[in-house]
Amino acid sequence: MTDKAIVEERQGEVFTGDKKTSSGKLFYIESYGCQMNFSDSEIVASILGEANYHPTPNLDDADLVLINTCSIREKAEETVRKRLRVFEKSLADKPGSLVGVLGCMAERLKNKLLEEEKLVDLVVGPDAYRDLPTLLADADEGNRGVNVFLSREETYADISPVRLNSSGVTAFISIMRGCDNMCSFCVVPYTRGRERSRDPFSIVAEASDLFERGYREVTLLGQNVDSYSWTREGIPQVSFANLLAMVADIHPLLRIRFSTSHPKDITDQVLHTIARYPNICKYIHLPVQSGSSRVLKLMNRTYDQAWYKNKIDRIYELVPDCAISSDIIAGFCSETEADHEETLNIMRYARYSMSYMFMYSERPGTPAAKKYADDVPLEEKKRRLQGVIALQNELSRQHNRKDVGQSFEILIEGDSKRSKEYFKGRNSQNKMVVFRKIPGFKPGDYTKVTIKDATSATLIGVVADKTVEVAMPQ
Ligand code: 5AD
Ligand code: SF4
Repeated sequence: MTDKAIVEERQGEVFTGDKKTSSGKLFYIESYGCQMNFSDSEIVASILGEANYHPTPNLDDADLVLINTCSIREKAEETVRKRLRVFEKSLADKPGSLVGVLGCMAERLKNKLLEEEKLVDLVVGPDAYRDLPTLLADADEGNRGVNVFLSREETYADISPVRLNSSGVTAFISIMRGCDNMCSFCVVPYTRGRERSRDPFSIVAEASDLFERGYREVTLLGQNVDSYSWTREGIPQVSFANLLAMVADIHPLLRIRFSTSHPKDITDQVLHTIARYPNICKYIHLPVQSGSSRVLKLMNRTYDQAWYKNKIDRIYELVPDCAISSDIIAGFCSETEADHEETLNIMRYARYSMSYMFMYSERPGTPAAKKYADDVPLEEKKRRLQGVIALQNELSRQHNRKDVGQSFEILIEGDSKRSKEYFKGRNSQNKMVVFRKIPGFKPGDYTKVTIKDATSATLIGVVADKTVEVAMPQ
């Protein structure tokens, strides 16, 4: 499955920055899964910094090895188990080093990890990272530590994340934690707990600080950002639309992105806010999961095909230049060929710019695992997934071809992967654009680029204008 249009969960990225030479111990961290996990690893780095642990990119140097894990599909868990075996080997001649499992697998498997994987010294769930220094001190004394307590309040609002592997241009800001949606296939409500929104003033402070430090794009993260809601006595309720405007008002040169939106929660107020602010990116990740109303009901997505189509219409009506992307699951329980066709139909209807596409993977303890048989044969799941990928490739190609001849404002993120003579950056619609460097430009600058060519994954352009005026909100 090497197709460009499919982007699986991120695989084991390691902090690659400079090793701190100051006194204290060194930790090595690998992160798997969703953006939220990567963002959490930056919170963990901050908490560990307070305890005088500093990040190292070298496993062999580490006193503490952490793996921030994902449970969303079985494959993600298998990858982590393999990595634990690797750690076991490489730390065999290093007595006193500690290994900790963080994140969703820690939450899902709890004590089982300590018992089964003899190498693991710490098991810490997503809401218990503040306890890491205490657990580490205990572990140093030879006591293995577990904290998988899920909180109704924890948002780590007061913690300034240490940006790991940052380009210095784009950053993620976690605005809420957990999920209350209970999609029947999904393990997240069990591993990340109940939904809670973070203090909006701490979000604005974090974004302002990033802007002052030269960052030019923030992505507001949550499992379901459109249900963001913050209330305190004496202060009017802050909705997601309000929050977007508050962050967008920081500076017109700061771009705002957000992810993920649940179709049932995205409001006209949010769409109007996106349309009103030039610095809120015209891009919505709006996972459909399936195009069949019958399957959507089994998935407990709470909308049907017609409702989703209306939402798509509304987005294109209020934000005409918006790009929309999706998550799609192939081969959910009882899915028929006709259901699968409905998925292909809705993809065409929505004209997605890209999609994340997966085969259904039964997760123990979820409503789907309890109620429905995982009855689509693997070969059939694979075939349907291939159909979904092939269609998405074609849709992405069409979407990108429409951009040829147009000019876009691009935020330069750094050198292109293929050549140091080219920059890469994104347009508002979240499309990766590569173009030949011109003197005087650096990452973090905006430039206007005219698109000359396109593949299904990338736009290729030339700089059109040396300066870009960024419009103020109307
Ligand atoms: N099997 C396959 N894909 C899943 N996702 C969530 N749970 C599962 C599962 N059990 C997908 C959904 C979700 C994305 C983050 O991962 O498409 O939107
Ligand atoms: Fe899982 Fe659904 Fe929540 Fe997304 S919205 S995290 S798919 S339960």
